[in-house]
Amino acid sequence: MSATEPLLRVEELRVEFPTEDGVVHAVDGITYEVHRGRTLGIVGESGSGKTVSSLTTLGLTRAQGARVSGRILFEGRDLAALSERELRAIRGNEIAMIFQDPLSSLHPFFRVGAQLIEAVRVHQDVSRAKARERAVELLGLVGIPDPSRRLDEYPHEFSGGMRQRAMIAMALANDPKLLIADEPTTALDVTVQAQILALLERLQRELEMAIVIITHDLGVVAEVADDIAVMYAGRIVEAASAELIFAGPEHPYTWGLLKSIPSLTSARKERLVPIQGTPPSLIRRPSGCHFHPRCPYSQPDHARIDPQLRPVPEEPTHHVACLLEPDVRKRLWVELSAGRTAEEARASVGLPAPQEPVAGAGAAASAGAGAGASGIVGDVPEVGL
Ligand SMILES: Nc1ncnc2c1ncn2[C@@H]1O[C@H](COP(=O)(O)OP(=O)(O)O)[C@@H](O)[C@H]1O
Ligand code: SF4
Ligand SMILES: [Mg+2]
Repeated sequence: MSATEPLLRVEELRVEFPTEDGVVHAVDGITYEVHRGRTLGIVGESGSGKTVSSLTTLGLTRAQGARVSGRILFEGRDLAALSERELRAIRGNEIAMIFQDPLSSLHPFFRVGAQLIEAVRVHQDVSRAKARERAVELLGLVGIPDPSRRLDEYPHEFSGGMRQRAMIAMALANDPKLLIADEPTTALDVTVQAQILALLERLQRELEMAIVIITHDLGVVAEVADDIAVMYAGRIVEAASAELIFAGPEHPYTWGLLKSIPSLTSARKERLVPIQGTPPSLIRRPSGCHFHPRCPYSQPDHARIDPQLRPVPEEPTHHVACLLEPDVRKRLWVELSAGRTAEEARASVGLPAPQEPVAGAGAAASAGAGAGASGIVGDVPEVGL
């Protein structure tokens, strides 16, 4: 991390949704920083709290009845303490967001140009003609050919990739200092995905923006991120620079993500191994380490003790939440990165197999974990609440 003040510092952010079935702990005390001119990649499977945490940064979960605590410091101002009116002045202006759902940004009934002009005029007191000039400039900036003609087209006349570029243009309308891009390439084919990522990188350099890119795909962050936060069940379980994470990932969940990505594993001609089981319910989370029902390295204590995010020895900028001894983790990763299976890696470092069978099928796994949890949790203090 640089010594300068971060552009955004999210501190102990918690977001809960009370529902009929119970409280959804969507985001459970996460802390991260985004620095000027850098890209943070937030990675995790679906349902890990990535979108909710980013929407909350912009105050967009307030209307959904979310209970929010923690601080969201943008240039030192706490966005969590601002009124809706004050937030509106920042949203789409100093901080822009590309939403996961493309339909929420581009309205199908209005021409792309009209929507861009509107985006410019919401925050800038300029004439229609000036705003139109800016709209042409923006479409050009995101690589849409013949922008003054395309301005008069409707979103459905754009290809998927061009629509994504138009959405990015909308987000850039007011020169944001921070761009939050939620799964910006998920719906696109691989070639177009690469083009959009290259575009984001170029824009960041040219406009000196900071970017938060949210994705379930570590391959995407490998392309663009300077820093990475890995999320699981509403928590950050590993955080470091991209360099450190790819050179020596520390968390078994990160290992699982790395082993399941075609783009990162195919170069090494390794088998793809999906992570077993499914992400847990955020209403009734597994006891102890929330990942333990799916973790091939889980030990008896790990269903009881909730690991906190801590610096890795001798690498103070690399944080991990795992109860294994650091040298055991290192040795396991050496084995895994040499292509060994989890079972072989465990045997080679002398780590016993998990006592509970590691989750195979989602439904059976969560029922088993729930029953186990209620027996164990009672006699230990709750950690981290
Ligand atoms: N408005 C809401 N009310 C209740 N639960 C919600 C709401 N929005 C999101 N959630 C839940 O919060 C959790 C995190 O969701 P989300 O942030 O969208 O995950 P991700 O973006 O990582 O896929 C999920 O379990 C989701 O069902
Ligand atoms: S604490 Fe245990 S269960 Fe959790 S990730 Fe580490 S090894 Fe796996
Ligand atoms: Mg999401």
